[in-house]
Amino acid sequence: MKFKKKILITGGAGFIGSHLLRLFVQKYSKYHIYNLDKLTYAGNLENLTVIKNLPNYTFIKGDILDINFLQEIFKVYDFDAIIHLAAASHVDRSITNPLEFVMTNVIGTVNLLQTAKQHWSNMNNKLFYHISTDEVYGSLNETGKFTEKTAYDPHSPYSASKASSDHFVRAFYDTYKLPIIISNCSNNYGPNQFPEKLIPLFINNIKNNKALPVYGNGKNVRDWLFVEDHIDAIDLLFHKGKIGETYNIGGNNEWKNIDLIKLLCKVVDEKLGRQENSSQKLITFVTDRAGHDLRYAIDISKINKEFGWKPKLDFEKGLEKTVDWYLKNGKWLENVTSGEYQDYYEKMY
Ligand code: NAD
Ligand code: TYD
Repeated sequence: MKFKKKILITGGAGFIGSHLLRLFVQKYSKYHIYNLDKLTYAGNLENLTVIKNLPNYTFIKGDILDINFLQEIFKVYDFDAIIHLAAASHVDRSITNPLEFVMTNVIGTVNLLQTAKQHWSNMNNKLFYHISTDEVYGSLNETGKFTEKTAYDPHSPYSASKASSDHFVRAFYDTYKLPIIISNCSNNYGPNQFPEKLIPLFINNIKNNKALPVYGNGKNVRDWLFVEDHIDAIDLLFHKGKIGETYNIGGNNEWKNIDLIKLLCKVVDEKLGRQENSSQKLITFVTDRAGHDLRYAIDISKINKEFGWKPKLDFEKGLEKTVDWYLKNGKWLENVTSGEYQDYYEKMY
């Protein structure tokens, strides 16, 4: 069968990547989708069982740090487009091991850019779509929102590495006319997220009656978006976004950590048939994260005005869906929290 487009998705076995792959492979039978993933602790092929045997899907195990390997697969598969999600993604790990974030997020991205540039002698109808974060903009006080024009001001090694990768993506557009799009999204939540990030970590701890470690005073604010809403925005921008542009994606859904945690305790207690709010006693204030950004908030006017995109799922419903998924998928949680996770947890908390 001749496919209309050959799309390389990197990091497709991770949290956001696996949602994107499931949508693209099932929705677009005319595209052949290739998933390049190193399968680090955060990548899990169990996330992709529903698509693994479909004829328009191919998994390629590999590392974006290996440029010879990238050149080889570009030669073999001749991709038309890349959606680049592979990254080291957790702020706390970036504080312990910043170099790994420079390697994967900066050098890995430049390797991909360089390979695409070399391979695409004709850049018509090609696209390098880079998935990034709102954390590149730094931290807000009580008011204001990040727009696409907000100056980059990253604070954590994670956000500094993502900011640097964004700059390289833009530099390849400005210098070599490589057709690029960048989107910067706020905090995602939903099924399949590795339980090091706040929401799945706390669901797992509530379930196991373990302490809920709240950094600092719990008043830091994050803007939460259900992962499927993010995927819809990526689908839209992949097909309709303007080359060379940046788009902000967010949930219009700001929560102080402590308020979100109390809501999460309520939802999990209800689902487990526990006494109302009994899990709140697990809340434990611990030493603040170094360089902890106070507040993130995203202005979504650009993507909303240009394409009518806005988040669909109400937060409480999204949280319920997420809790239901984690409670039903105990085996998944067990698998990902065995091995390396135990070491990480001991060192971290
Ligand atoms: P994740 O940590 O769940 O998944 C990352 C994936 O990349 C894993 O499957 C891992 O195996 C793979 N990977 C890591 N290093 C690799 C390498 N060297 N070569 C090939 N594959 C490698 O991350 P996520 O939360 O799904 O985030 C995906 C992307 O979205 C990242 O670029 C992240 O910066 C961005 N993002 C995430 C959020 C969020 O809230 N999670 C928000 C905005 C943007
Ligand atoms: P996280 O899920 O790590 O996302 P990010 O740092 O990229 O925003 O954290 C979300 C918020 O929750 C952030 O303000 C840090 C806080 N947090 C805790 O209070 N305790 C924890 O154990 C974790 C992982 C996060």
